[in-house]
Amino acid sequence: MKAVLLGATKGMGRALARLLAERGARLFVLGLGEEDLARTAADLRVHGASGEVGTAPCDLLDPQAFGPALDVADRVLDGFDTVIVTAGLFAGQEEFEADVALAARMLAANFTNTVLFCEEARKRLLARGGGTLCVFSSVAGERARKPVILYGAAKAGLSYYLTGLDHKFRAQGLRTIVVKPGFARTGMTAGLKPPPFAGDPEVIARTVLKAIDRGTPEVYAPPIWRWLMLVIRSLPRAIMRRIGF
Ligand SMILES: NC(=O)c1ccc[n+]([C@@H]2O[C@H](COP(=O)([O-])OP(=O)(O)OC[C@H]3O[C@@H](n4cnc5c(N)ncnc54)[C@H](OP(=O)(O)O)[C@@H]3O)[C@@H](O)[C@H]2O)c1
Repeated sequence: MKAVLLGATKGMGRALARLLAERGARLFVLGLGEEDLARTAADLRVHGASGEVGTAPCDLLDPQAFGPALDVADRVLDGFDTVIVTAGLFAGQEEFEADVALAARMLAANFTNTVLFCEEARKRLLARGGGTLCVFSSVAGERARKPVILYGAAKAGLSYYLTGLDHKFRAQGLRTIVVKPGFARTGMTAGLKPPPFAGDPEVIARTVLKAIDRGTPEVYAPPIWRWLMLVIRSLPRAIMRRIGF
């Protein structure tokens, strides 16, 4: 496997990158901060990644940079076959309601710009007959809930887009995988009280890797979230208005 990862300097992206490294994959890491990128590359080499782990800066808030960053990765890897996007922003609903600039950044990063990044990746993968595009959305995009209205709206749009890509391009060899994690204990959720069924990044990464191997188009992680969301999606509107969840 020759994989490009955006957002692998921390959290679930790092955990997944380590599993790929342990299999001897060739990896190229895109993201923020030279030091973080260098530290991640060194970590992935220690975990067994083949050859040099290349890195390049790529800010999800700067869509102009996506094409050039993927081209660098493509040259270094001599043609990547897998792209994994775990970069994303999170804050509570109240923070977004109080700070419109923060909300705008999150909406751009988690929806518009992730879609634009995927479009650049999709074109490059399809040009060589396909590959795997694995992107982290969220269960928050499955049902509008009071604590995650704006974040959930961005993730709902992202899930919708990724599902459409899978419908349209699977026959041409592009396997699009939308990952829907429930609450995960990472830097993103630091300080929040973990709810029941919270997951650890290493365990979630193993579930996602299985989905990548099999080409499963939609993966809930931990898997129990598939059934929890089935229930939550079916709750009547009157109940959703009454509860804080
Ligand atoms: N944690 C959860 O409970 C949870 C639940 C459902 C879905 N998710 C989704 O799963 C994905 C991974 O979450 P996580 O918990 O592993 O998050 P995390 O630990 O906060 O890691 C997020 C990664 O994204 C990078 N990133 C943030 N802003 C970026 C930008 N503008 N440009 C490029 N990279 C950027 C971060 O780099 P820096 O640290 O340098 O900013 C970091 O490497 C996200 O899409 C998140 O929305 C998370």
